[in-house]
Amino acid sequence: MKENYELPEENDFTKETHCTDVNPSLPGTIPKFVDVLPIPKVLSPDRLENGYAYYEIEMKAAMHKFHRDFDETLIYGYNGLYPGPTIEAIKCETIYVKWVNNLPSKHFLPVDKSIHGAIDNPEVRSVVHLHGANVAPDSDGHPDAWFTRDYDCKGPKFCRKVYEYPNDQQATTLWYHDHSLGTTRLNVYAGLAGFYIIHDFQELSLNLPKDKYDIPLIIQDKSFKEDSSLAYPSGPPNGPVFPSIVRAFIGDTMVVNGKVWPYLKVEPRKYRFRILNASNTNGYVMKLSNGDPFIQIGTDGGLLTKPVTLTSFPLDPAERIDVIIDFSKYKSGDKIILNTEENDLKSDVMEFIVTDPCYKSKDTSVIPKILRPIDKLDKEMAVKTRRFVIGQDLDFYKRVMLSLNHRMFSDPATEKPEYDSIEIWEFANTLTSPVLAAHPIHLHLVQFQILNRQLFDLTTFKPDEWIEKGTGIDYYPDIINPDPSEGGPVPPEKPDEAQRAWKDTVRVEPGTVLNGTIGSVTRIIVHFDNHTGEYVWHCHILEHEDHDMMRPLIVVKKYFD
Ligand code: C2O
Ligand code: CU
Ligand code: CU
Repeated sequence: MKENYELPEENDFTKETHCTDVNPSLPGTIPKFVDVLPIPKVLSPDRLENGYAYYEIEMKAAMHKFHRDFDETLIYGYNGLYPGPTIEAIKCETIYVKWVNNLPSKHFLPVDKSIHGAIDNPEVRSVVHLHGANVAPDSDGHPDAWFTRDYDCKGPKFCRKVYEYPNDQQATTLWYHDHSLGTTRLNVYAGLAGFYIIHDFQELSLNLPKDKYDIPLIIQDKSFKEDSSLAYPSGPPNGPVFPSIVRAFIGDTMVVNGKVWPYLKVEPRKYRFRILNASNTNGYVMKLSNGDPFIQIGTDGGLLTKPVTLTSFPLDPAERIDVIIDFSKYKSGDKIILNTEENDLKSDVMEFIVTDPCYKSKDTSVIPKILRPIDKLDKEMAVKTRRFVIGQDLDFYKRVMLSLNHRMFSDPATEKPEYDSIEIWEFANTLTSPVLAAHPIHLHLVQFQILNRQLFDLTTFKPDEWIEKGTGIDYYPDIINPDPSEGGPVPPEKPDEAQRAWKDTVRVEPGTVLNGTIGSVTRIIVHFDNHTGEYVWHCHILEHEDHDMMRPLIVVKKYFD
């Protein structure tokens, strides 16, 4: 770091000018990087109860300004804030949260009343799920544990008002969000999402960048109407149901911590960013505009064994990545943009503007060589392999819906692992049209490990046989060498280093249509070692989850004979 410095030229970064020709519905007219990145406040407990931190968090409608040149507009927020306040917890210190629903009775986004959970139920329902947490089922925020304002109406699984979070897991970045059946996509889009960060002493001892140099980024794509209000599609006007759920929501602007295309002034030093993709549908591949690397230190469930250098990384809905960016080699005024590989204006996410160094706080943080050991789950210990085909079906109204083994959410539970057992779950993505898309599959309660991925021939695939016996699948052709007589079976591919750690959401990659029709199998290994009871697992594309791409997960007591 350079030793002498000039005083910062004040006003250098003030972006006061207001543009009048901005139309929020036309993203090309929205000036980028004119709003400071907000950093959600860390909530302090309302009180201590028997020595435990107790919080009350109110879900309510509020006004929010997404951009300097937008008008304030209606959102739903935890404590009226979007994103919600950050909750910080320490490993194994239980906290309690009373989630209070003060939302109005009518939703401001288009409600589909024909999908699961929405038929004959109040329009605005809410329940809060702490994503990635190891919690008992009654505090997990089951989609059917929803409740309305003043608990006037309650879903069939509602059982308690105050949730208990034991934080019995290693330091990591979790997030809380709405999970009410059939309306998760609308409530999360409306603003109901926030960070929940667990610290532990092992992590604190590593001397990673901390406090104001440890910044969570919640990224969501959104679209706006001309009057600055949030736009969400109502579905085809002459379809069988209107408004209707859509198969995907792709916004046209990028919103980080509640602002459209914000900027952050950074000192020339190391920063830790906990990046969460909380978009409804869109997965991104992220990189820096100057090609500089990220030093990845963690995944959904905690730290990697050792840092991994990445120049880009994929991040699908609900996934988190924990990275360090070292700005120390830049000079004051340098600008670096966080980019995606999207083809439109969404290729920009936010801008980092390097300032002069701050001599009050020298960067003494380090990037340790070793972060934390991870016990590898042993394939030989798995007592069961379950197989799932990701396919599509038509619903009652003949609308396309994505599905897991062609079952609906309300079909009897089929995933009933025994408590303390290890299982392998395999997902075959058979979808090749209209788009090749990954499905981010998420299991509640557990953190798991990714075993491998493998391409297979879709034209000879026998889904029922594969689900039942694991046969009826040809693991070729090799896409590079497509002739099976030469190529032979494609061996499974290990996840890259960046994914060899604890995950609660896995990208089930699509195959490819190149040289024929090829599907892809993704395998994970899971230890159901924490609680018994009723949870769910699902695709975290919210438009899929709300349209039956979700299944019960029931961890059952071990049967001793
Ligand atoms: Cu982040 Cu079941 O969800
Ligand atoms: Cu979850
Ligand atoms: Cu999906």
